[in-house]
Amino acid sequence: MIPFLQLLSLFFVTSKMDDEDKNKSTDYDLSSYKRGDLLEVPRTLFTHFGIYLGNNRVAHFIPDILPVFTKNAEAVAKMVTNNRLILGVVTKAASVRVDTLGDFAYGSEILVNRTDGLCSRPPLGGDEVARRAEKLVGPCDYSLLWYNCEHYVMYCRYGVAISYQTYQFCTAVRRIICSRMNAYLTALCGMGVMLYLGSLTLLNTAATLLVAFTLWMAS
Ligand SMILES: *[C@@H]1O[C@H](CO)[C@@H](O)[C@H](O)[C@H]1NC(C)=O
Ligand SMILES: *[C@@H]1O[C@H](CO)[C@@H](O)[C@H](O)[C@H]1NC(C)=O
Repeated sequence: MIPFLQLLSLFFVTSKMDDEDKNKSTDYDLSSYKRGDLLEVPRTLFTHFGIYLGNNRVAHFIPDILPVFTKNAEAVAKMVTNNRLILGVVTKAASVRVDTLGDFAYGSEILVNRTDGLCSRPPLGGDEVARRAEKLVGPCDYSLLWYNCEHYVMYCRYGVAISYQTYQFCTAVRRIICSRMNAYLTALCGMGVMLYLGSLTLLNTAATLLVAFTLWMAS
């Protein structure tokens, strides 16, 4: 289970910072964000999205295991750490919550309104965007593939729940599955021993886990 979590953390955890040094960059210039702006924070492979509500508040949809275990509102309100996030993804526990810019960005730089150029629809008015975002605050089912933080902000800002990342992720997984089948064919043509050893390699294990994980998330 632990290597699996490490594999997952490669996908979700910000490359900029560990849980330990989260203090470092908490000074974001509030004047550069307007109510209803779509905020984007790059993580290792995925991008995390949120809607700015004004007054240093960001509504964002994020996986979190903690509410499954405790009703302690104070503990849940603290910043979602990487471990909470990853376990939330695995168990599909998530919610729309409101955090400060610092807690939302988790040490990364914040990009603003970048999807405006990607989406064929114009954004709704800033107030309407923020109202939609606020209305959905609370617990929610999370499926990495079918409903994620990107669907949430796209619905709020443009009125359509779509995810470009899901599309890209599916394409990447398909590529991994194909290359894995190729590897098996090669091994079969070689020796049975090679097949046995090959199935033990880390890459193979990782690919198997990723496929199993994808099937679980897609359900
Ligand atoms: C975080 O900040 C607090 C107070 O600002 C400080 O006491 C603490 O040592 C800092 N933690 C780290 C890891 O720098
Ligand atoms: C984001 O888009 C809105 C229009 O919906 C615009 O008013 C605002 O100035 C933009 N914010 C930034 C920082 O460009």
